[in-house]
Amino acid sequence: MDRRSALKLGGIIALGLSLKPYRALAQLSMEDLNKMKFGPDFLWGTATAATQIEGAWNEDGKGLSIWDTFAKKEGKIKDGSNVEVACDFYHKYEEDIDLMASLGFDVFRFSVAWTRILPYGTQYVNQRGIDFYNRVIDYTLAKGMQPWLTLYHWDLPQLLQDKGGWANREVISWFSEYVEVCAKHFGDRVKNWMVFNEPMAFTGLGYLSGMHAPGERGLNKFLKTVHYVSLCQAEGGRILRKNIPDANIGTTFSVTAVEAKDPSKKKHVIAARKADAMFNRLFIEPSLGMGYPIEDLPIIKGIEKFIEEGDKEKLAFKFDFIGLQNYFRTVAKFSLWPPFMWANVVKAEKLVKDKSELTAMGWEVSPKGIYDIIKQFDKYGVPMYITENGAAFEDHLNADGSVHDVKRVQFFKDYLKNVLQAKEEGADLRGYFLWTFMDNFEWAEGYEPRFGIVYNDFNTQRRYVKDSGLWWQNFLKN
Ligand code: NOJ
Repeated sequence: MDRRSALKLGGIIALGLSLKPYRALAQLSMEDLNKMKFGPDFLWGTATAATQIEGAWNEDGKGLSIWDTFAKKEGKIKDGSNVEVACDFYHKYEEDIDLMASLGFDVFRFSVAWTRILPYGTQYVNQRGIDFYNRVIDYTLAKGMQPWLTLYHWDLPQLLQDKGGWANREVISWFSEYVEVCAKHFGDRVKNWMVFNEPMAFTGLGYLSGMHAPGERGLNKFLKTVHYVSLCQAEGGRILRKNIPDANIGTTFSVTAVEAKDPSKKKHVIAARKADAMFNRLFIEPSLGMGYPIEDLPIIKGIEKFIEEGDKEKLAFKFDFIGLQNYFRTVAKFSLWPPFMWANVVKAEKLVKDKSELTAMGWEVSPKGIYDIIKQFDKYGVPMYITENGAAFEDHLNADGSVHDVKRVQFFKDYLKNVLQAKEEGADLRGYFLWTFMDNFEWAEGYEPRFGIVYNDFNTQRRYVKDSGLWWQNFLKN
């Protein structure tokens, strides 16, 4: 595949404190949404990721990750920013966890930076990195929340990338070593684990379209990474199980309900099937022992040449749960471009009457999509959590410290109603973690898109609870 078509295909997969409690509650009515309707054991959380919030990029012995280096390359990040400071969570974690707890969340989902633990990728364990996550875990528990730990949220050690990264089969042993170290150090207190965050996103954007770190492009490279990441996904699960027998072990997927542009036209229906196989099925089905969805997605047939004897069995692992991460639906259509795929997605602005209906990421607000995708994944028979859902909108910080993010409040209400409906119809859904606690580094988009329920002033690193944060506080505490 040539560079342009790889790029195009990549484009297709880039689908990707001042707390004033109970302010203006009249405007933040619950309507018919009531936390208790989700059941007494349903968990509510906020989700974050190391690179997006921590900062302290070279402190206390941390090594360089692919995002430390990628962000500093000319033209890679829209606003020219980097991740040196981010939200400075590394120093402000107590304040942030206090705030999270005061809003009423049960769960704090965060990721560990591989380069804090193993600065060179393998071998030398950095005790100061371990100490930092011990502090975060202990503080979270002390505040009455459960720590939910993601092992890998996109920040591969640069030294391992220099050896090929996820496209080098040796990554299975590198990753296994990292998982083992984390399990041994944190497994006594952390009982809920996620191996990966959105493998489709970090392989597709990182090794096919090149829009994310490490910025590589090419179908062959992508297919290699899909296979090695899938092997690591299962191996990671096995290592956690061996070290922490009582752990709840999962992994997370980016998911999007795919519809055909015109369901009466066979060519669009086939295109939708391909898009669904690519975006939704590529990583979960091998873990269930179903293999890769090659029949519905012939473009990935080349993956077979990377499959060695015994791999098929090793791809499977019985996860205790899967995390679904959903933001928008996808409408797929037949297209001559890219060749071999013959499928593309309809641009979000064509799906809405007015561009103002899109989020700041240019994504369509499509709450029914979360209902559809929960129902679709429920058929796999594995317990589910929504491990990410949320939206970026333009926010304005007022002089009194308020942020009236009306659209975000509406977004949560609409999506939650659909989540509830799926649950009431019997879907095995056990929790919902919103994305995200505070505005942070949105990868190649930089700091402009604000996804938080807490506003972060990046100049002062002061946090301000938005109306959506207050809405959540009211929802969770009443
Ligand atoms: C997916 C990713 O897991 C997260 O890091 C990202 O910020 C959100 N979605 C929003 O794009």
